[in-house]
Amino acid sequence: MHHGKRVRPIGPFRFHVPFDQGALSTGSAASVLLIRPERGFDPGPLAPLTLCHRTDDVRVASALTAAGIGPAQPGAVSDMAIVWTDRHRDVARADVAAAFESVRPGGTVILDGAKAHGIDSLIKRLKPLVAPDGIAAKSHGKVAWFSRPTRLASTFSDWTATVAPRRNADGFLTQSGLFSPDRIDPGTRLLAEAIAGPLTGRIADLGAGWGGLSALLLARGATPERLDLLETDARALALARRNIDHPAAAFHWADATQPKTKEIYDLVVANPPFHESRSANPTLGRAFIAAAAAILRPKGVFWMVANRHLAYEAAMTEHFRHWDEHPGSPQFKIFRAERPGSRRRR
Ligand SMILES: C[S@@+](CC[C@H](N)C(=O)[O-])C[C@H]1O[C@@H](n2cnc3c(N)ncnc32)[C@H](O)[C@@H]1O
Repeated sequence: MHHGKRVRPIGPFRFHVPFDQGALSTGSAASVLLIRPERGFDPGPLAPLTLCHRTDDVRVASALTAAGIGPAQPGAVSDMAIVWTDRHRDVARADVAAAFESVRPGGTVILDGAKAHGIDSLIKRLKPLVAPDGIAAKSHGKVAWFSRPTRLASTFSDWTATVAPRRNADGFLTQSGLFSPDRIDPGTRLLAEAIAGPLTGRIADLGAGWGGLSALLLARGATPERLDLLETDARALALARRNIDHPAAAFHWADATQPKTKEIYDLVVANPPFHESRSANPTLGRAFIAAAAAILRPKGVFWMVANRHLAYEAAMTEHFRHWDEHPGSPQFKIFRAERPGSRRRR
C-alpha cells in the first residue's frame, strides 16, 4: 500500500537550518529575542537558552508565556534575535530594524521568511546595509543570518518610522500592517449603516481592529451600557483605545473565537477576518458566527458583513434559529441573525 509522505509543519523550523548545518552555534549566547514568532514555535537548538518574545498576536503570546517564554522587557539587549518576517513589507522592515537595535554588537540576527511574504526582496534590500553571513533556502522560504555591526545604518530608523501611528483619511489613528489602515473599510461602513434596532445594552465588536466599526456605531448615536472591543492584534487594539473615547468602552486583547463569557450581549457586530495569510478563508468567519451565538443573550441580535463570495450561510443556520440577509452591495452581503442556538439541539 502506498503511504503519502508525512507532512511536518515546517515554517517555524526554518531557522533551525543554520544550526543544523553548523553555520551557527549557540556558543556563548545566553539570551534570544523572538520577534513575531509563528504559531507552533519550536525552540529546537535554542532550547537551553533564555528566550523572550515580542508579538502582537494574543494567541502566540499566551502559548509562549505558558511555555515559559515571556514577553521581552522594553530596551533589553540580547545576544541573538530572530525575526519571522511579516507579509506586510513595512512591518517586516520595522521588525528587522528592531532586531538589529535590540542585539548587542557582534550578536546574531536571523531572518526567517516565506517567499510569498517577500523574504527575497527583504534580503536584497538589506544587503547594502549589512551583509549576510549566510543564506539558506528551505520550504518555500529563506533563512538569512547576520552579525550585528557596531554602527547601524540610518535606514533602520526610517524603517521604524514607517510603521508609526498616523491619522488616516477618516481622521482615525492607524498604522501599516493593520486591516484597512487608510480609511474605514467599505464593508464596515455598509454594516454600520445597515444595523437596525436599538444600539443600546451590552454590545460586542468581534475583531474590532483599530475601532472603525465601533466608532461608526457611536457616531450613529449608540448608547451602550457596555461596549466590548475584542481584538487579537495588540497594535490595532492600542489604536482602538485612542480612537474610541466612550466611558462604556472596554478593550480586550483576546481571541474572539474563544469566548470566556456566555449569553451576556444584546448586540454583537463583526466584520470578521477573511484572510489567513494570503488566501481567502471563511473558517475564521464561521468561528466568529459560533462565538457570536454563544455570547448573545437569547433575545440578542448578531450583525455581520462578509465578502459576497464567501459562504457563511450554513454556519448561520447551524448556530442561529433565524437569520436573513439584508441589502448589501455587489461586493458585500449583510447578515442579521437572532435566536442563537442550534435547531438540532432543541
Ligand atoms: C476584517 S478586520 C475588521 C476590523 C474592524 N472591525 C473594522 O471593521 O475595520 C478583522 C479583524 O479581526 C482581527 N482578528 C482576527 N482573528 C481574530 C480573532 N480570532 N479574535 C479577535 N480578533 C481577530 C484582525 O486582527 C482584524 O483586525
